[in-house]
Amino acid sequence: MALAGKNIVIAVCGSIAAYKIASLIRLLLKADARVNVVMSKEATAFITPLTLSTLSKNPVLIDYYQPNTGEWNNHVEIALNADYILVAPATANTLAKMANGFCDNLLTAVYLSAKCPVLFAPAMDLDMWKHPSTQSNINKLSSYGNILIPPGKGELASGLVGEGRLAEPEEILDFLVKFSEKGLPLAGKKALVSAGPTYEAIDPVRFIGNHSSGKMGYAIATQLEELGADVTLVSGPSALKLPKGVDTISVTSAAEMLHACEEHFEAADIVVMSAAVADYTPVEVASQKIKKKENEFSIELKKTVDILATLGAKKKENQLLVGFALETNNELENAKGKLIRKNLDFIVLNSMQDKGAGFATDTNKVTIIDRSGNTREFSLKSKEEVAKDICSIIVSLS
Ligand code: CTP
Repeated sequence: MALAGKNIVIAVCGSIAAYKIASLIRLLLKADARVNVVMSKEATAFITPLTLSTLSKNPVLIDYYQPNTGEWNNHVEIALNADYILVAPATANTLAKMANGFCDNLLTAVYLSAKCPVLFAPAMDLDMWKHPSTQSNINKLSSYGNILIPPGKGELASGLVGEGRLAEPEEILDFLVKFSEKGLPLAGKKALVSAGPTYEAIDPVRFIGNHSSGKMGYAIATQLEELGADVTLVSGPSALKLPKGVDTISVTSAAEMLHACEEHFEAADIVVMSAAVADYTPVEVASQKIKKKENEFSIELKKTVDILATLGAKKKENQLLVGFALETNNELENAKGKLIRKNLDFIVLNSMQDKGAGFATDTNKVTIIDRSGNTREFSLKSKEEVAKDICSIIVSLS
């Protein structure tokens, strides 16, 4: 058991989500972890110290000293004895204090004294979460090596619906287990992956598609998840089993894929577009099945939006954008052109000239080209192994 014997200090802040910490403590004890709780004064309004001390089987500490005995609660000792410090729920206020070195209560003093990994699970209303000041505090904390356990989307205490819900106790437990098992290099990172083909409808029964199976993209999504990232996979039609632990959005057309990718792009730290998106789509979709009449028949097509180029144009400094290029000739030159035109950090080139590469095979042979022009050729490997190569470059650049 990954957490057996580990001393986990949970730092509970003043948020309605503090009630979830009761369940989390039970889950952690079941996983044989030891739990010590520190709370801010505000947190005690949402859940009592008695509840948390009873569940954790340890005294709960709130102040720098015990009000009755005057005994000092040594924040340095609490921090140094911890294997992990988990700030949950982490409010906007405490995140701001942590990011800027304030220590006006025991909880933040414990944080400042920590030498062990610190994980934080925010909980707040959606507009507070989106505010540039909160986001910049989170970036600061990440730059100190603290690890974000991303909040979920859903109904918030305000009645509004959006991002900002404290991750569920089971998710936090899962995160801690994975983190302690592997030290997960992409823990706290959000990844967006596109995979598979797109189908462009001609009429209610026909479409323009391609032979992409989705294997490469699914393998990348799986690998990113195993490295600790929180992965959203936007998948065109595919017969593959959905990857475990990955949030998969199924789409059919290029337009639907664009919409889903744009929706998740802003929150993503890592974006890998491996889908074989149709370049053209029918100008009009017939509402009834087209009957065969003339000997010759043509369909008027218009260009689809280039999803990767659209995201490349919006890419921020802290985002890593990876694309694919499938080429039959002039491979390196074409791929380099796409890398620059689409504003990518690196591009994965598949050449249709290589046996065992490309669509509907279990193997792939790729060349990876980065912005500085470095070119790395890989041998023919299973798509899972190719995904590992790609993801190890992602880890080195993240
Ligand atoms: N791509 C995309 N949206 C499109 C077309 C392509 O996001 N409408 C992405 C693919 O997911 C891939 C990269 O762009 O990561 C390159 O795709 P590819 O088909 O090789 O190139 P194109 O840009 O379509 O150019 P061409 O067809 O001229 O080779």
